[in-house]
Amino acid sequence: MTDLLRVTGGTPLQGTITVRGAKNFVSKAMVASLLGQCPSVLRNVPQIRDVSVVSGLLSLHGVDVAYNPEAGELRLDPSNVKRGETAEIDAHAGASRIPILFCGPLLHRLGEAFIPDLGGCHIGDRPIDFHLEALRGFGAAVEKGEGGIYLSAPRRLRGTKMALPYPSVGATEQLLLTAVKAEGLTEISNAAIEPEIIDLICVLQKMGAIISVDTDRVIRIEGVDELSGYDHTALGDRIEAASWASAALATGGDVTVRGASQASMMTFLNTFRKVGGKFHIDDDGISFRHPGTQLQSIVLETDVHPGFMTDWQQPLVVALTQATGLSIVHETVYEKRFGFTKALRKMGANIQLYRECLGGSPCRFGQRNFHHSAVVSGPTPLEAADIEVPDLRGGFSHLIAALSAHGTSTVRGISLIDRGYENFQGKLEALGADVERG
Ligand code: UD1
Repeated sequence: MTDLLRVTGGTPLQGTITVRGAKNFVSKAMVASLLGQCPSVLRNVPQIRDVSVVSGLLSLHGVDVAYNPEAGELRLDPSNVKRGETAEIDAHAGASRIPILFCGPLLHRLGEAFIPDLGGCHIGDRPIDFHLEALRGFGAAVEKGEGGIYLSAPRRLRGTKMALPYPSVGATEQLLLTAVKAEGLTEISNAAIEPEIIDLICVLQKMGAIISVDTDRVIRIEGVDELSGYDHTALGDRIEAASWASAALATGGDVTVRGASQASMMTFLNTFRKVGGKFHIDDDGISFRHPGTQLQSIVLETDVHPGFMTDWQQPLVVALTQATGLSIVHETVYEKRFGFTKALRKMGANIQLYRECLGGSPCRFGQRNFHHSAVVSGPTPLEAADIEVPDLRGGFSHLIAALSAHGTSTVRGISLIDRGYENFQGKLEALGADVERG
C-alpha cells in the first residue's frame, strides 16, 4: 500500500466512530506486565503500530504475547523473561520512545538492560536526563555506549527520592515502574498526574503495588518483593477523541466519538465550548458538532495535566484557522511543536510564529530562540495542497486541514499516523470523507 492519501475536502464529517484504549497508556501497561510473576490481560487495546512495536520488544525479551485485535484483548505471559539480543532490540524499537520504560522492569527481572537510542516525534529535543537520574537514584549503573544505553543493577534496586524539574510523563512512569519492586520507599515530587498515569497506577495496584497519590503532585511508592499479573480495561484515548472533535469543528461537521470520556477531557471540552463548538455527553461517548455560526478566537496555553494537553493543540489549531479574529496559542510543553503550521500556511492559513511567551505565563522556552507561540488569524479558506506528515499529531492535523480545504490534497507519509490512530482511513470513510490511498 502506498504511503499517501488523496483527500478531497469540503464535506463536513458526519457520523459515529469508536476510540479504543489510549496509546499513551496501553504501551506502558504492556511494559508493566514484565514486572509480574504471572500472566496479565489488557482489554480495549487498539490496533496501532505502537502496540505492535511494544509487542515485538516484549517478545524479544521472552514474553509470550497473544493479541486478538477484534476483541481488543492482549494476553501477556512473562514467565520466561530473558535477555534480548542488542541488535534485535535496536532493529525492533523503530521510532518509538517506549523502550526507555523497559529499564526498571528488566533490571528487576534480569539485573541488566540495553535501551537503544530513542525515536519518537520530532517536536523538541526530548532528552532523557530525568530518566537516567532516576535510575541512578535507584542504584542502577548507567552507561552510554554504542547505539544506546547499557544498564545494570549489581544488587537489588533501592527506593529513592526525586523532585522532577518538570512533571514529565515518561520520567514519572519510569519512576513508578522501577519503584514498585525496589526496596523501601520512593517519593516523587512534581510528578505528572495525567489520567494515563493514574490508570497505570491502577494496573500496578492490581498487581500488588502500594502507591499513594497526593493532591500536590507527590507520589509515594512502598516497594514490594513480588507482583502478580493484572486484568485491566484501558481508559479511552482522549487524544484521538479530541482529534476527531477538532475535525468535526474544522469541517463544519457533527461527529459522535464512542469511548470518549468527559472526566479525562474536561479541559478540552471547556476550550471546545469557548471556540463555539457544541457537545453532548452520554454514557457511551461524546458528540461534537460545529455550531452553524461563526467560531470564536481564543487564547490557549498548553500545559501538563490538568492543563490543556499539548497533543490536543495541533488538531485544534486547524479549527482555529476557521475562527473569527486572532487566536493566541502558547506551547509550553514542547519547544518545537508548531512545525506542522508550515503546511497550513501553504494551504492559506494565516499563522505567525513567535519566540516570545505570548498570552500567559513565561515558560521554559522563553528567551531561548524557540518559535513556541503562534498567532492564528481567521477565518481563512484553505486550499488543497501537496503536504508531508511531519509527526504523529501534526499528521492528523494535516488530514483535518485537507478535509477542510477546497480541492484534492495529497497527504504523504501517512503511515506515521498509524502509530496512534487505529484504522483512521476506515473511520474517515465512515464519517463520509472523500479519501483514497494514492
Ligand atoms: C508523553 C506522551 C506524549 C505527550 C507528552 C506530554 C507517550 C508515549 N507520549 O511523552 O504524547 O505529548 O507525554 O503530555 O506517553 N523532559 C526533559 N527530560 C526528561 C524527560 C522529559 O527535559 O528526561 C521534558 C521534555 O523535553 C518535554 C517535557 O519534559 O519538554 C515533557 O515531556 P514528557 O512528559 O516526558 O513527554 P513523554 O513522556 O516523552
